[in-house]
Amino acid sequence: MIVSPSILSCDFGNLQRDIEMLNSSEASWIHIDVMDGVFVPNISFGFPILKSVRKHSQKILDVHLMIQNADLYLEEFKDAGADILTVHIEGCTHLHRTLQRIRNLGMRPGVALNPHTPVSALQHIIEEVDVVLVMSVNPGFGGQSFNPESLEKVAEVKRLAAVRNPTLVIEVDGGVNHENGLLLANVGATALVAGNYIFHAENPVKAIEALSNIECR
Ligand code: DX5
Ligand code: ZN
Repeated sequence: MIVSPSILSCDFGNLQRDIEMLNSSEASWIHIDVMDGVFVPNISFGFPILKSVRKHSQKILDVHLMIQNADLYLEEFKDAGADILTVHIEGCTHLHRTLQRIRNLGMRPGVALNPHTPVSALQHIIEEVDVVLVMSVNPGFGGQSFNPESLEKVAEVKRLAAVRNPTLVIEVDGGVNHENGLLLANVGATALVAGNYIFHAENPVKAIEALSNIECR
């Protein structure tokens, strides 16, 4: 299982310490939640934090944009160190063009689905992406509880991907823990984002290990 700890839940006063903890862990990716206060009702952080994480880590930086007008900032995210750049299907008018630009800039494109967005919205773009991010909470905040409806959604993405994009990474974000992580793996998830479950654990390195030991189907 790919584990992508969300630094939204880290201690920003000790960002370098927390990044070094992740470096020493089995996490394959680091999840970076960028929020603009418009697309979601919260503001997180932007380029300076991303650049700091890049400076202190060789891990794959998995950047989740919860912003309007992502098109205006694609080059800047590349320059700041993003490896995977995920945009929301609900926030992009010309999604196909946005995803192609992300790939042409040398990043891996991802697309995120809010809880209300049907999997059928992927029908015409699933071949264009390396990652589908299924939101299991309404985006904007860490520490919310997992919506079990996302299990059926992951299964649906898996069925679509089996035919159209077999190497697709199916990532789930929001309220993920070890218990629902096992259920998610059973229906086809191959990457798990976790914020609170990791950073509020007694031993975050062990919590990451527990998630990464979950076997994918
Ligand atoms: C929510 C963010 C998530 C969040 C996950 O809008 O996209 O990545 O940080 O945090 P937990 O795991 O605490 O729900
Ligand atoms: Zn996220």
